[in-house]
Amino acid sequence: MRLSVIGLGKLGASSAACFAAKGFEVIGVDINKDFVDAINNGQAPVYEPRLQEFIARSQGRLKATQDYAEAIRNSDVTFLIVPTPSRQDGHFSDKYLQDALKHLAAAFRDAPKKYHLFVITSTVSPGTTGESLIPLIESVSGKKMNRDFGVCFNPEFIALGSVITDLLNPDLLLIGESDKAAGDQLVGIYEKVCENKPYIARMSIISAEITKISLNSYITMKISFANTLANLCEAIPGTHIDDITKALGADRRISPYYLKGGLSFGGPCFPRDNRAFVAFAQKYGIDAKLVKATDEVNRFQIDHLAEKIFGYMAEGPNNVVAVLGLAFKPNTRVIEESPGVKIIEELLKKKDVEIIVYDPLAMENARAHFGDNILYASSMKDCLSNSSLCVITTQAEEFKTIRESDIRHHPTTIIDCWRILDPSRLGRHVKHVSVGTVGR
Ligand SMILES: NC(=O)c1ccc[n+]([C@@H]2O[C@H](COP(=O)([O-])OP(=O)(O)OC[C@H]3O[C@@H](n4cnc5c(N)ncnc54)[C@H](O)[C@@H]3O)[C@@H](O)[C@H]2O)c1
Repeated sequence: MRLSVIGLGKLGASSAACFAAKGFEVIGVDINKDFVDAINNGQAPVYEPRLQEFIARSQGRLKATQDYAEAIRNSDVTFLIVPTPSRQDGHFSDKYLQDALKHLAAAFRDAPKKYHLFVITSTVSPGTTGESLIPLIESVSGKKMNRDFGVCFNPEFIALGSVITDLLNPDLLLIGESDKAAGDQLVGIYEKVCENKPYIARMSIISAEITKISLNSYITMKISFANTLANLCEAIPGTHIDDITKALGADRRISPYYLKGGLSFGGPCFPRDNRAFVAFAQKYGIDAKLVKATDEVNRFQIDHLAEKIFGYMAEGPNNVVAVLGLAFKPNTRVIEESPGVKIIEELLKKKDVEIIVYDPLAMENARAHFGDNILYASSMKDCLSNSSLCVITTQAEEFKTIRESDIRHHPTTIIDCWRILDPSRLGRHVKHVSVGTVGR
């Protein structure tokens, strides 16, 4: 079986590299020529841990082109992993999927082949595949679904920063299938790719589309619940958020994941998926109150942290705030909807505040976003030494190493949103504020 992957971005390049490393002949397509050239030169087109290693492991089985017809001719299965940006109304736009499918279906029309499988991996608003994408393939190709071609909706539940590891070891394979033959073919691919034995959920395409955004909405609900508990713990002496969430997480009905209590969620998926859930529910006359409340709590967490920072600023000569952490999580360069960025935007609304920032990977993206409105440190230590008030917004490994010798101002206040620091290594001049515990 030969595969093609349309869209060689953060998820597409990683998927293509995993397929090729596991023995499939893979042809990638992207409208970005630089990405195509990178793949053909054996280079990762985007940053993602282990991606370069997996491209190397593919040993010539991974190629890229800008020619959709070449991809259709040289593959049996096509994965579409192009962007689906949010529209104003909250739904995902399927514009890029349609653009790609028009070309692919035209090439399929002209190709001498009996059958092809189209796999939609991009996140879509429920209903999109059946209402818009399948009719498009049929009308442009003149061929018939479940006779000449099959369709699966098969999203991935990866996290940026661990995409390759997550692709190889998923908890769940979600497959919405146009018929059994289409689903069987896709399962056959994953049997070669996965290094574990994931639960395989097979269902109708529309059920799978609903499952995809529901899963992310449920996770964000857990995050917002844990954050509400953290806020409560800050108000009640003798409590500790980690004691409470660890106990809650030990119950199998809850599970410990995404139940830490700290900062708000962000990134390119969670906030958008929630908005899409609300818009989708509304289309069917349902008010998704729980999802809306989740987002409300999420927004509140930023205001809550900003208030805390302003409180510490008022306590001393702290008009310079050091922010460690700009990406929405460790091991990624992505700053989209990141708590670090949102906090900085809140702080910038106040007069006479200077902000200096550092992130192990996201400095370039932060510079493109904030320009000259903030200062950029050359290292973590440089960032810390320029301020007596520091906020840590991600659990980056580097930040966990902060120790007394990194601190220049006495006293210095460090607001540790994820409780990653060991206070005993900070010396007596540091006021260590753990979010989720009584702070002052
Ligand atoms: N990144 C994630 O964490 C993640 C997680 C789950 C799902 N997804 C979903 O996967 C999809 C892709 O996300 P991503 O993060 O990889 O996006 P990305 O922006 O990193 O990459 C998308 C790539 O598609 C290319 N592209 C756009 N239109 C094209 C076309 N017509 N033909 C060929 N290539 C085209 C772009 O040039 C780009 O390289 C989205 O629907 C996203 O919601 C992403």
